[in-house]
Parts: sequence; C-alpha cells; structure tokens
Amino acid sequence: MQRLVDETAIQQRVRELGEQLSEVYRDRPLTVVGVLTGCMLFLADLVRVIDTPHRIGVVHASSYRGKTTTAGDLRVDTNLLPDIRDRDVLIIDDIFDTGKTIEKLVESLKTFEPRSIRTAVLLVKEGRSEVAIAPDFHCFEIPDAFVIGYGLDYNDDYRHLPFIGVLDDPQA
Ligand code: IMP
Ligand code: MG
Repeated sequence: MQRLVDETAIQQRVRELGEQLSEVYRDRPLTVVGVLTGCMLFLADLVRVIDTPHRIGVVHASSYRGKTTTAGDLRVDTNLLPDIRDRDVLIIDDIFDTGKTIEKLVESLKTFEPRSIRTAVLLVKEGRSEVAIAPDFHCFEIPDAFVIGYGLDYNDDYRHLPFIGVLDDPQA
C-alpha cells in the first residue's frame, strides 16, 4: 500500500482548517453535520479544533458498493439529524469524487430550512467532478486513485488507519 498523505500532514491541515472555520463561524449558530460513515475520523478531529461553540449532527449517505460509486442509487437518511432550522450548517464528508453525494446532501438538507449550508471535505479528487458545485472547504487535492484510511473504506475495511493510502489491488 502506497501512503499518499501521512498522519502528521493530516493533523496539521485539519488544525489549519479548524482555525479558518473558527473565524468564519465565530458567534454564529453552527451545526456541523457529518456524513456517516466516512466522516468519523475527520469529524472527530475537526470539531476539536473549531474554537467556537457548535452542535454536531450526523446523516447517513449510501451509494457506494465495493470499489465504485453508483450515484444513481444514492440514498440520504436524515433520521439522526438534529433540528437545523435557522442554523448555519457545515456538511463534513470524507471525499468529493463525482460530487453527486455532496450535491444530493445539500439539496436534502435545504428542505430543513437552515440559515446557510456550506461543505467541507477532507479530499477532492482532481478532474472527477460531474456537478456544478464544489466544496467550500477542503484539506487536500489528490490524483484519481482509489484511497482508503482516515475514515475512507474499501468494503468497510481500512477506515481506522490514521493516514490516507492508495490501495494497489483491492482484491489482494
Ligand atoms: P461522489 O458522490 O462520487 O463524490 O462520491 C463520494 C462518496 O464515494 C464518498 O463519500 C465515498 O464514500 C465514496 N468514494 C469515492 N471515492 C472513494 C475512494 O477513493 N475511496 C473510498 N471511498 C470513495
Ligand atoms: Mg462516504
């Protein structure tokens, strides 16, 4: 397995993003909404460095089976979402690939009438977007490869790794 982003670089960049978000959302009614399951490590590290009071909620998005995404089949489950009406929402996801997941999430959360919605992702895959929107905040741009670790999985394995790696042969 090739390491693409090591743990130190992730922690450094997440801290920087946290500092930026602290200023953007200072004295605003922020709710950070993580997208399960890929958000878990990023969310946990990021909220600890957002230095302004905020709430945390989660939604579940599923489209992904095995190695590829099947965006046509995308489902968003908002049963665990707290009340976000009139709040500033920041959606946290692991990766922006085609962008269809983020696009669908934004549309879905808009129906709860938040005051604003922005998006932050750990990774953006270069040259893959199929949608008109881009994430408002991201940590790293990466080449078009299948990555795992720091929340990202292959068939639910590897999420716990503290770094981002490229899986050479997922079947191996
Ligand atoms: P999108 O809708 O194409 O942007 O895909 C986003 C979702 O697909 C992410 O939330 C991930 O669950 C999954 N995904 C896309 N690329 C990768 C990858 O390289 N590794 C693991 N999961 C990925
Ligand atoms: Mg995901």
